[in-house]
Amino acid sequence: MAAWEDLKRDCLNCRGCALWETRTNVVFGDGARDAEILLIGEGPGQREDEQGVPFVGPAGQLLDDMLAMIGLDRTKVYITNTVKCRPPQNRDPLNVEQEACLGWLRSQTALLRPKIIVCLGRIAAKEIIREDFRITAEHGQWFQRNGVHMTAIYHPSALLRDVSKRPETFEDLKSIQAHVRAICQRTKI
Ligand code: URA
Repeated sequence: MAAWEDLKRDCLNCRGCALWETRTNVVFGDGARDAEILLIGEGPGQREDEQGVPFVGPAGQLLDDMLAMIGLDRTKVYITNTVKCRPPQNRDPLNVEQEACLGWLRSQTALLRPKIIVCLGRIAAKEIIREDFRITAEHGQWFQRNGVHMTAIYHPSALLRDVSKRPETFEDLKSIQAHVRAICQRTKI
């Protein structure tokens, strides 16, 4: 636990890229410290920056609803982002910002030791699964690295903009539920 608290304290003081200058809060993550499932989004938006908690805006409301559909909630998963500080005007994080921030995510992952990683959207999938990941073609597919099962689904913000993607995402969520039941002994859903 000390290692996690030390990591969090260091992260909250990070000045590893220029985003520290415009942030209100570092958004370290939210959820269960012993979660078997790690969800990785893109980066904080305005509401997340204000509150220091990931996925608390409209996309977060939808994410909570999506988790509830498969019996999950924030007590059973851990949620974080590829970058911990808000990119201005909600632009995509720059490569240099993602690279500067990757060490925090690596350390979080090493301490959590999740069984399943779910990437929320293209940006996280490219960073975590494969540089040339195609979210349209490959969402819902499963990959394995170092014994960790990984998948990517459409970002909740994309599902707010384009409801036609929701039926496919429902199938992806059911696949996540099946994988959790098969792989995660401690997570009862
Ligand atoms: N979108 C993200 O990718 N992450 C958040 O924390 C909020 C919105």
